[in-house]
Amino acid sequence: MLKPLQFGNVTIDFPVVLAPMAGYTDAAFRSICKEQGAGACYTEVTSAEGIRRDSKKTFQLLSVSEMDHPIAGHIFGKSVEAMVEAAQYVEQLGFFDWIDLNCGCPVKKVVKRGAGAALMKEPDEIGNIVRAVKKAVSLPVTVKTRIGFSPAFADHLTIAKIVEDAGADMIAVHGRLACNFHKGDADWEKLGEIKQALKIPVIGNGGVFAPEDATEMVRVSGVDGVMIGRGAVGNPWLFDQIKTPASTPPTLGKRRDVIEAHLRRLVELNEVSTSKRRGKNKFIPEEAACLTFRPHLAQYLKGLRGRRELMQHLNEMRDVQTVMDAVDKVLEKNNDG
Ligand SMILES: Cc1cc2nc3c(=O)[nH]c(=O)nc-3n(C[C@H](O)[C@H](O)[C@H](O)COP(=O)(O)O)c2cc1C
Repeated sequence: MLKPLQFGNVTIDFPVVLAPMAGYTDAAFRSICKEQGAGACYTEVTSAEGIRRDSKKTFQLLSVSEMDHPIAGHIFGKSVEAMVEAAQYVEQLGFFDWIDLNCGCPVKKVVKRGAGAALMKEPDEIGNIVRAVKKAVSLPVTVKTRIGFSPAFADHLTIAKIVEDAGADMIAVHGRLACNFHKGDADWEKLGEIKQALKIPVIGNGGVFAPEDATEMVRVSGVDGVMIGRGAVGNPWLFDQIKTPASTPPTLGKRRDVIEAHLRRLVELNEVSTSKRRGKNKFIPEEAACLTFRPHLAQYLKGLRGRRELMQHLNEMRDVQTVMDAVDKVLEKNNDG
């Protein structure tokens, strides 16, 4: 269905990639998705201003494991100066294969600062940022954006052309307007118009929850790659199912193994970050991991009998053993074989 995708010195052999999702796509979840076939991934969105201040939290957002490659350091900001400095910092870390500039995040606190999706209101500024960052770093530079802010502002083709003309190496486009957040269907036809208009590779995003969605997005739009966000949460097997159409859905045993591996990796990640923490706050790595894991667990168990009861007791689950005992109870209820 898709050919390897190349830009700069990056090759994504299987261009079905994990979308950046703040609060979800940390190194633990990325490694799970990579094991299930994701062709590439992005860090959670990281503030250019935060990088300037060199905060510990920012550093954690940018931490990367061997499994992650190829991976983009995904940054947001408003000013050309902040984005350039942040991009240089990300490049110097030496972990990243390319730098991705967020020009699509509709979250209020980001837009209020004139960053993320707000940049689509003044798309020439996107061009200024891309040009300056390209000049300042040697890694490939890409943009993740949407098909526009709202009907009152620049359209998808204007934005995409500005991104390409400024020298971006690739663009990933979410087929919804920022004013619509995640409401309504993603417009894959508009993604196709962008693909037709540009020479650089285009990755399409929005509304891929099943293997047939990915096939249909490519058929409708002709994009060079597919990006999956929410569809991968609780279902990292989606990547493998797209890659290997004959693959069967995961057994309950396989689901359990992945759930446990994901949770344990979150604990490890927190342990590493604790060792770097200053001060004596009450951060308990295992407890914090169980907290971060809750929205993932809710999705992993979607559709299974007994999930609702487990969800009611999530608050009491603060260690891996308790979570896994509860998961086993749910799985037993569904083990009909
Ligand atoms: C919880 C959540 C967090 C997100 N965080 C980011 C982000 O940090 N940067 C970004 O560019 N997009 C972010 N997005 C948007 C996704 O990358 C993606 O564009 C969107 O979810 C549409 O794709 P999907 O339909 O496959 O989920 C986020 C989406 C969700 C649901």
